[in-house]
Amino acid sequence: GLPVEVNISKLEPGQMIRVEWRGKPIWVVRRTQEMLQDLELHNDKLRDPLSLEPQQPAYATNTTRSIKPEIFIAVGICTHLGCSPVYQRDGFSGQMEGIAAGFLCPCHGSGFDMAGRVFQGQPAPLNLVVPPHRYLDNERVIIG
Ligand code: FES
Repeated sequence: GLPVEVNISKLEPGQMIRVEWRGKPIWVVRRTQEMLQDLELHNDKLRDPLSLEPQQPAYATNTTRSIKPEIFIAVGICTHLGCSPVYQRDGFSGQMEGIAAGFLCPCHGSGFDMAGRVFQGQPAPLNLVVPPHRYLDNERVIIG
């Protein structure tokens, strides 16, 4: 599949752009400051908080799983059986209550935080995949 260019100049904090790359849904989210701060507050609830499993490129193996802290890019496919999780911009209820925001899989309820890291006790075994990507400038990112 060809690389896909995404313009993030109009992406507001909290907003998500969805594109397709290699037939897969790709999410591009501009995280809010609250979302970024929350990433550091719940490592004890995550299965792989430090992203030791290679579900992301080396340049995204960091606390935000991204190149730019505010911009999160992920393949929107659950690592359990491949459903597409739903963006929970205003947080979760139930087991993940108290987490600022994240993604909830409609099929078997796996929850992921705003870096795509899976919570403990979920059917999904791994964090969401971060696809290869690079920035051309402050406004444009290439996926693939
Ligand atoms: Fe997402 Fe099963 S496919 S929890």
